Amino acid sequence: MIEKKLEIKYCEYESADELEPRDRELFDAAVSALAGSYAPYSNFNVGAAVRLGNGLMVKGANQENSAYPSGLCAERTAMFSAASRYPDQPIVAIALVAAQHGVLQPAPTYPCGACRQVMAQYQQKAGTPMRIIVGSGKAVQIFDGVESILPFIFTDI
Ligand code: THU
Repeated sequence: MIEKKLEIKYCEYESADELEPRDRELFDAAVSALAGSYAPYSNFNVGAAVRLGNGLMVKGANQENSAYPSGLCAERTAMFSAASRYPDQPIVAIALVAAQHGVLQPAPTYPCGACRQVMAQYQQKAGTPMRIIVGSGKAVQIFDGVESILPFIFTDI
């Protein structure tokens, strides 16, 4: 038996003001995407924005439904929207933020497992690491590649 250890590397910024302009732009797009959140059941609003290879940004927000499983997270709304509108463009980055009652969460809110799996697939399709910007009203964390938030990724090839 060999005991093995995994190490995750990521960058943490004290606030969005410290971000590089390109990351800041995507973070701001995720914040503005919050306006499209429809969350009458949880009152937990999530905004996401993806950056495509050609530089375009596509936004998405969580959508809830009275038949609960029919709703969708902000990240998948943004990724599916981008991939269906621009099927030939790789998704190179995604930013997300969450808010409650109009106030950004004080700590980063991480993507759920299903969204991580979808990120993994688009990263594989793109062939380049996806930059993941997890925001909040304070700290912002940046992960370079889905492996950093989803180790042991399932792949069927
Ligand atoms: N939600 C997201 O939009 N993204 C995540 O990664 C986690 C959760 C949404 C789903 C639901 O509308 C609300 O947050 C509460 O779970």
